[in-house]
Amino acid sequence: MSEVSERLGRALLETVKRDDPSPFVEAVREVNPDPEEVRRFLEALRIQREKGRVSEDTVRAAERAVRELVGGEEREREVGVREVDPLAEYAGVDRVLGTIMTGKEADVLLAEREGRKVALKVYRAFTGREERREERAYRTEDGEVVRRVSRGDAALREYSLLRRAYEAGVRVPKPYDARPGVIVMQYVPGEPLYRAPDLRDPGAVLDDLLEQVERLAVRAGLVHGDLSAFNVLVSEDEIPFLIDLSEAKKVHEPGALRLLRRDVENLVDFFERKYGVTRDVDGFVSRVKARVRGDR
Ligand SMILES: Nc1ncnc2c1ncn2[C@@H]1O[C@H](COP(=O)(O)OP(=O)(O)OP(=O)(O)O)[C@@H](O)[C@H]1O
Ligand SMILES: [Mg+2]
Repeated sequence: MSEVSERLGRALLETVKRDDPSPFVEAVREVNPDPEEVRRFLEALRIQREKGRVSEDTVRAAERAVRELVGGEEREREVGVREVDPLAEYAGVDRVLGTIMTGKEADVLLAEREGRKVALKVYRAFTGREERREERAYRTEDGEVVRRVSRGDAALREYSLLRRAYEAGVRVPKPYDARPGVIVMQYVPGEPLYRAPDLRDPGAVLDDLLEQVERLAVRAGLVHGDLSAFNVLVSEDEIPFLIDLSEAKKVHEPGALRLLRRDVENLVDFFERKYGVTRDVDGFVSRVKARVRGDR
């Protein structure tokens, strides 16, 4: 190993140990190494960051300082200072780590924000196609039918539904932020119910889910509308989260209570088929309906 790399190597260790960019930056200033060499060391520093041995701030500060030392756009690229990922920048996260799932209408990505993992739901082609036309008909007092068309961004709409559920105490991924086309929310490590490993206590999970559905209707005034084993995430410790509220409806909208029944049937059928656990759908649905109407 050359004297230069040895000097840089020692400085890098010191930077990691103290979680302070200065030893490395000082060494670069002193020995003025070639950019390829600096790039390798910055890469090593990034790996230490992945392993949690040094903070993101230190890595960034080191990259920034080194960029200044080397200077110029050309060399910036040579030393491997990462270009800004436009999606990460748009979504307001530090970086995108990978894809969790490619769904029908959206991709769900794993990202990092302020040192924490978060999930990004990125609606496909968020260039305007996500503009969803919603037409609602109202009948005025004198019988006239009025149609109102509202345009809304699917991500912003789902985000506001998610917030409403979250604030009512329903177990959904915590919503952090949204931009047109993109939702930033809590990352729930786990698997969708339909392909989660066999549950240790399926009855408890089903009862918990029914409680979430009830809370969603009674406290948040919402019906999920697309509930099934695909739209439930089960965390590693068997805690179920409702996800994908993109189809949710207000409980008082026409047809919402029919959707409620379908949601509950989907869940109960799944547990019955897979685990032989059964619950009284009629009893549950009538109780929730009564509570929604304010009967009790
Ligand atoms: N907060 C989250 N944390 C971890 N994984 C998530 C999260 N949200 C969604 N996922 C993963 O992404 C998948 C798709 O999410 P979601 O159902 O919201 O999107 P979708 O586009 O509606 O999918 P589809 O159209 O196939 O139903 C989920 O099945 C789950 O595996
Ligand atoms: Mg879904």
